[in-house]
Amino acid sequence: MNTLQGKTAIITGGARGIGKATATLFRQQGAHVIVWDIFPESDSITRDLVKNNMTYHEVDVTITEQIRSSTTEVIDRFGKVDILINNAGITQDRTFLKMSEETWKKVIDVNLHGAFNVTKAILPVMKQAGYGRIISASSINGFLGAFGQTNYAASKAALVGFSKALAKEVGKYGITVNVIAPGFIATDMTDQMPKHVLEQALGQIPVERVGTTEDIAHGYLYLASENAGFVNGSVLHINGGVF
Ligand SMILES: NC(=O)c1ccc[n+]([C@@H]2O[C@H](COP(=O)([O-])OP(=O)(O)OC[C@H]3O[C@@H](n4cnc5c(N)ncnc54)[C@H](O)[C@@H]3O)[C@@H](O)[C@H]2O)c1
Repeated sequence: MNTLQGKTAIITGGARGIGKATATLFRQQGAHVIVWDIFPESDSITRDLVKNNMTYHEVDVTITEQIRSSTTEVIDRFGKVDILINNAGITQDRTFLKMSEETWKKVIDVNLHGAFNVTKAILPVMKQAGYGRIISASSINGFLGAFGQTNYAASKAALVGFSKALAKEVGKYGITVNVIAPGFIATDMTDQMPKHVLEQALGQIPVERVGTTEDIAHGYLYLASENAGFVNGSVLHINGGVF
């Protein structure tokens, strides 16, 4: 299948977890895939992506100079960016009373300002081409809240407002802006959660399993495809029926 044949896709946070599964699926579907992540280009994680015919650039989504210089490189090589997946995200959980300003700002900086920085660089390229798909990773916890995650939930809820507003601005240029809201997905991020929290979460999932990175990659694929051209300002919840 070649749903994304000839498309160019940038995936932030694509070196592991959901982002890596998405990069792999997009490549299989014929896209030129450029992964932006914070691992050094010499790291075995990133060399693996390159071995599988993807392009890797070390780009921290909070550093605008890195975004700018990689964008220039991507345009020089591929001439366009059809798809932007704002997938990079972090958690730094603390109950609010114990949360430092630094912890608050760090999570907002990567999860929300990161999406701003990257979208700011790529949107003009899409506008010029008259085509684009921008999809950002929210989270079920941006809708339901979660203990110890005021910073994370705020960042993920904010991405929904950001995307809905931007969708209204850029639809006329052939660009759609949507959000994916994963539920409980087994990745390195969730591996850090305490066992009792994991078990409690599992008990609340009607399909009685946690999600896989591929479950989310296929959601990204639909929203990134030409078939989703009338989907704009939407949130795709993929959570096994919790919400
Ligand atoms: N795993 C889940 O259950 C779950 C649930 C809901 C939402 N999400 C969201 O999905 C996205 C992917 O999550 P995941 O579980 O695959 O996480 P992960 O931690 O496995 O992967 C996140 C990737 O983002 C990268 N990253 C972190 N900071 C970065 C920065 N400043 N610049 C560029 N890259 C950076 C990391 O290096 C990593 O490769 C995140 O936005 C996360 O919040 C995950």
